[in-house]
Amino acid sequence: MSGVPPVTKADLVQALKAAGIVPGDTLMVHSSLKSFGSFDGGPEALIDGLLEAAGPDGHVAMPTLTATYVNLPGASGLAFHKARTPSRVGAVTDVFWRRPEAVRSGGLTHSVACIGPNAAAWMAAHGPETTTFGGWDGPYAQYVRAEGRPSKLVFLGVTPVCNTTLHAVEEWLGLPYLASAEALQELEDGRQVAVPVTHAPLGPRGFYKIHDRHHAQMEATGRIRRVSCGPATVAVMDARACVAETIRQELASPGALLRDRPDCEFSTKGRAACLTMQDELRARAQEIRARGLCE
Ligand SMILES: CC(C)(COP(=O)(O)OP(=O)(O)OC[C@H]1O[C@@H](n2cnc3c(N)ncnc32)[C@H](O)[C@@H]1OP(=O)(O)O)[C@@H](O)C(=O)NCCC(=O)NCCS
Repeated sequence: MSGVPPVTKADLVQALKAAGIVPGDTLMVHSSLKSFGSFDGGPEALIDGLLEAAGPDGHVAMPTLTATYVNLPGASGLAFHKARTPSRVGAVTDVFWRRPEAVRSGGLTHSVACIGPNAAAWMAAHGPETTTFGGWDGPYAQYVRAEGRPSKLVFLGVTPVCNTTLHAVEEWLGLPYLASAEALQELEDGRQVAVPVTHAPLGPRGFYKIHDRHHAQMEATGRIRRVSCGPATVAVMDARACVAETIRQELASPGALLRDRPDCEFSTKGRAACLTMQDELRARAQEIRARGLCE
């Protein structure tokens, strides 16, 4: 064992406060448990810390992705059932959705779990029949809007390369490079059925690398607050500012979330397709604003 003391729930609550989290906030959390070295009390205590920082009127949400695609590289080989299928995006998330007070949405590949007063309502409109991110009423729209109260992205020991909300913005903008695929649903009786899914975020993206224009701009405009918590860094950004920056970049340079590399055929084709829909992009951007999803 190293001589580094474990990080405690109190340390996390203090770090979250220092990073600007206040009671009543809605938090969309991405995490690496190992980044803390050792966390006293494990994932449960970490989750308790998040809930304490958000307070009884606030919400904590996490992606609980399952990679339940049919026949795609990286597919988990699992079928999705919201009460049975493990989350594939970290130990904390897999403990989180199993808490009795958590509500998990029913999106076949990109489910979300949430704890808080509105969790059931916010997670409701996301099932096998909806788009990948649930569209205008899905969990991403609900948490970003947060009924007009502050909504924040929280990165615990991870960088924003895992910022799933950017894919939700791609869906709201109707970006043409989002894919159609199939996902496996597990029915109540255990049978598995393949179900078509739309707006799937397949293929590479520029923001999967930390040296990316979206991160750079959020950084340059002071929109990311960072605080140390033991060996980990806690980074926080306003969710509606993040959406606003995505829209700004897409309008300035359609396909901005794709890679800049000319040898990336997916990105080159995707960008060309985006260029043909600039009027629609502008209309979608207005709708995103009108729906309270961006600052
Ligand atoms: C991929 C990723 C999760 C890996 O981070 P990580 O810290 O290596 O992995 P986890 O957070 O799952 O933590 C794993 C550790 O938790 C420990 N752990 C798991 N369950 C535990 C429990 N109940 N109690 C205590 N420890 C536990 C495990 O021992 C494991 O450590 P080990 O590998 O040494 O055994 C992280 O880099 C990441 O990307 N997080 C964000 C994910 C996300 O939100 N993605 C969304 C879009 S893709």
